[in-house]
Amino acid sequence: MTERTLVLVKPDGVKRGLIGKIISRFEDIGLKIVGMKLIWADEKFAEKHYELDDEWAKNVFNKTKTAAEKEGKKFEYDDHLKFGKQIQKWNMNFLREGPVIAMVLEGAHSVEIVRKIVGHTEPRQAIPGTIRADFASLESYNVANSKERVVRNLIHASDSVENAEREISLWFKKNELFDYKTVHQDHF
Ligand code: CDP
Ligand code: MG
Repeated sequence: MTERTLVLVKPDGVKRGLIGKIISRFEDIGLKIVGMKLIWADEKFAEKHYELDDEWAKNVFNKTKTAAEKEGKKFEYDDHLKFGKQIQKWNMNFLREGPVIAMVLEGAHSVEIVRKIVGHTEPRQAIPGTIRADFASLESYNVANSKERVVRNLIHASDSVENAEREISLWFKKNELFDYKTVHQDHF
């Protein structure tokens, strides 16, 4: 039940001075920060983080296609891997635009709960109250595509327990993660 998940405040969040506000959202619900640091990724590291796998490419392809079709627009890509490669490249560039805050959050169902607090990938579709909606609602696939970059959506959060484990071991050494007790642990 207790899970760990990786969260990044991407370069847009750091440059906009939103680190504190973003972290507060997680602290407020009682998630425990067990690791945290500021890192400026290089190209090799960014590629490891944004590993191109078939399932992820399919998911990204479908998500974007649905958004385009909802607007009655034709989606110009037909090959999910080709599209995935394009997004991966833009993601790698974006991640390297500045330093990022990397943190590991621990708590019951943390992977699912953090994704819920973060909100939809496209901030325009994110529900008010989520981080992406409250701080980036004007950002959309349309805006991003017109500038040939990914959507600046402030946060990365692991999307499954399995991916969380892979990502945590990429960003943190074992001795950079700490065990301690929060006051919430007496309550929940
Ligand atoms: O971040 P999240 O897990 O919500 O989305 P993802 O599907 O794993 O995609 C990773 C990142 O790629 C997103 O956070 C966006 O920044 C970017 N992306 C994009 O800009 N345009 C798309 N059509 C799909 C993804
Ligand atoms: Mg993702």
